[in-house]
Amino acid sequence: MKILITGGCGGVGLKLRKELGSRFERVRIFDRVADTLAPNEESIVGDVADFDAVLKATQGMDAVIHLAAMPVEGSFQEILQSNIVGTYNVYEAAFRQGAKRVIFGSSNHAVGFYPRSQKIDTTVAGRPDSRYGLSKCWGEDVGALYADKYGVKSMHIRIGNAFDYPGSVRALAIWISARDLAQLVMIGLEHPEIHNTIVYGVSDNKACWYDNAAAYALGYKPQDHAEDQTDKALEGEKSVKQDAVAEYYQGGPFCSIEYAGAPVPAKG
Ligand SMILES: NC(=O)c1ccc[n+]([C@@H]2O[C@H](COP(=O)([O-])OP(=O)(O)OC[C@H]3O[C@@H](n4cnc5c(N)ncnc54)[C@H](O)[C@@H]3O)[C@@H](O)[C@H]2O)c1
Repeated sequence: MKILITGGCGGVGLKLRKELGSRFERVRIFDRVADTLAPNEESIVGDVADFDAVLKATQGMDAVIHLAAMPVEGSFQEILQSNIVGTYNVYEAAFRQGAKRVIFGSSNHAVGFYPRSQKIDTTVAGRPDSRYGLSKCWGEDVGALYADKYGVKSMHIRIGNAFDYPGSVRALAIWISARDLAQLVMIGLEHPEIHNTIVYGVSDNKACWYDNAAAYALGYKPQDHAEDQTDKALEGEKSVKQDAVAEYYQGGPFCSIEYAGAPVPAKG
């Protein structure tokens, strides 16, 4: 399989290249920056907001793992170019070049305004907690259009926290190990029932507030558990700025940024 990874030089991209790179015949990395390459890798430096560059990068590829993005909250202009225009470009290029699937690096922040007390599955409506989260809702909808209308299949992985270890109490609910994320990506690339499929990108965490039945139905068997690294989470929590809004909602600190909504219920 020949795979294009946008944003392949970032944190998640590097993890997936390490876990999965050798399984693919060819890995083409499209990123704003260059990187040292493995023998089966090649690199194109460019911006996903540049359609012609994305179209060229997608030529001859079987599938795209789309990670390039502004990965945190930013100004609307930043989010607009990298996340909104960029994601549209990736799907349109995939369609025009005959790539069959897109794995979209979506985010827990697409549904960040659900309270932590509520278990949510993948059928709930979006509740973005930021302009960043909104751009992930948009990306999932772009995937829906391209699956239904143009036949480009998608898996949207609402990644929780893909760092080396869970670095906060919130991460104990939403952390995912590199190997579990890699497993989800492979399901997205290979499973015959993928059409426009949303899953949560989380390991098998006791504190999880997601019902990830959609992923389990596709055979996902996570190997890792955030609670095995509780000591690191508690250590990291010491430097987390505490506030009531962040503690109430699943999206945590992304919910508190610019928050001018109703007061959240007091902790009971
Ligand atoms: N890391 C996580 O825990 C996490 C959680 C939820 C979602 N995600 C999503 O996963 C993806 C990867 O996240 P990450 O943590 O690796 O971020 P990162 O910032 O480490 O990597 C992003 C990469 O994309 C590139 N990039 C950014 N804008 C670009 C543009 N306009 N054109 C071309 N390249 C561009 C950057 O150079 C970088 O190499 C993002 O879409 C992010 O929203 C990550």
